[in-house]
Amino acid sequence: MSARIAKSNPAMKLIVLFTASFSWAFQQQDILPKYQYLDPVTSDLLLCDQCPPGTAVKRHCTTDTPTECQVCPERHFAENWHWGDTCQYCTSVCKERQLVKQQCNSTHDQLCECAPGFHLVVEFCITHSSCPPGYGVTALGTPVSETTCERCPAGHFSSRDSSTEPCLPHKNCSGLGLKTLRWGTSTSNSLCTNKTASPECSQQHSLCQTASGVNLCEKKVSRCNSLKNLTLEDLLKVTDSLPGVKVKLEDVRAVVSTCLPQQYILQLLHLWKMANYDLDLAKGLSHSLRVLRNNGAPRHLLKGLKKFSRIIGTTSTHKMYEKMFVSMLHDESCFKAHKPLNE
Ligand SMILES: *[C@@H]1O[C@H](CO)[C@@H](O)[C@H](O)[C@H]1NC(C)=O
Ligand SMILES: *[C@@H]1O[C@H](CO)[C@@H](O)[C@H](O)[C@H]1NC(C)=O
Ligand SMILES: *[C@@H]1O[C@H](CO)[C@@H](O)[C@H](O)[C@H]1NC(C)=O
Ligand SMILES: *[C@@H]1O[C@H](CO)[C@@H](O)[C@H](O)[C@H]1NC(C)=O
Repeated sequence: MSARIAKSNPAMKLIVLFTASFSWAFQQQDILPKYQYLDPVTSDLLLCDQCPPGTAVKRHCTTDTPTECQVCPERHFAENWHWGDTCQYCTSVCKERQLVKQQCNSTHDQLCECAPGFHLVVEFCITHSSCPPGYGVTALGTPVSETTCERCPAGHFSSRDSSTEPCLPHKNCSGLGLKTLRWGTSTSNSLCTNKTASPECSQQHSLCQTASGVNLCEKKVSRCNSLKNLTLEDLLKVTDSLPGVKVKLEDVRAVVSTCLPQQYILQLLHLWKMANYDLDLAKGLSHSLRVLRNNGAPRHLLKGLKKFSRIIGTTSTHKMYEKMFVSMLHDESCFKAHKPLNE
């Protein structure tokens, strides 16, 4: 389609323009883009149709013939309406760490995107980051977006660096009919125990053999006997009598609810030691004994603690004993330190 514009007569030009646009509108073709073209032969200024995407002008319009378009050649494209006589070359390579997302066709250039595991930041493909322990993935990274993380909500945990793992719910020990050995945190699952499966005092004997002398083991066993029927009340008395930072009430309760009675005192002292790294266990125990004696604590408690204190207080065996103490506590058999959820 073409229209002839009388170049020499502005008024005429206007009329022709008006008529032409009226007729395009009438034919609902007014959306077809046009371009002005000066016919080199007739010197007429013509209004030619542009060529649609995927094509280029083969021959400009004349007063009698419309614009002739031809399809872009292989590996060329034209994205918009235009009146050029060539199409653009397709991009042939993608950048580093990119893959072809869409092959080039006559209307679209080749599209590249970041390879899996990378996303675009300004112009570069960057590795998706992972969420640290305590944080879970809420949305996986895409070629254009980074991994998104959330702090694990109450009752959930994530124990490792991961770019894919969400926060997982803590195991529900009571729901499984088990006791909670350790509460879950934001970075660890809860640990359940089967109380009857906890090692007996006599089983700890084997640890003695590797860590210290036979004498000490005998003392340890006797200690187990004399301290085997401690109650929560007893433990709270000991807790109060120890110097320094007090072990939390809830932790003492947890010891009673998850450990075997013969393990109570060791676990309690371990908790105290964790809160009071700078204090000497032997001195702490002597202090505790003095306080308990002054407060008229039960005899069995005093007796048991005194025995215990004597083992600990022997300077030559002190270090060895502590080693044994620590290795025994490493067996994860019962409650050690209560960490509030998600701390
Ligand atoms: C060309 O590719 C684009 C996407 O890059 C697509 O939307 C379009 O339909 C394709 N056209 C043809 C003719 O295949
Ligand atoms: C754990 O299980 C018990 C018993 O099935 C249930 O009452 C309790 O609400 C559960 N706790 C959580 C945190 O799901
Ligand atoms: C708990 O321990 C007992 C004795 O070892 C065993 O028979 C029982 O199956 C255990 N229960 C669970 C839930 O592990
Ligand atoms: C613990 O056992 C001793 C004897 O070994 C006994 O004298 C004491 O009353 C017991 N205590 C409790 C609370 O049962």
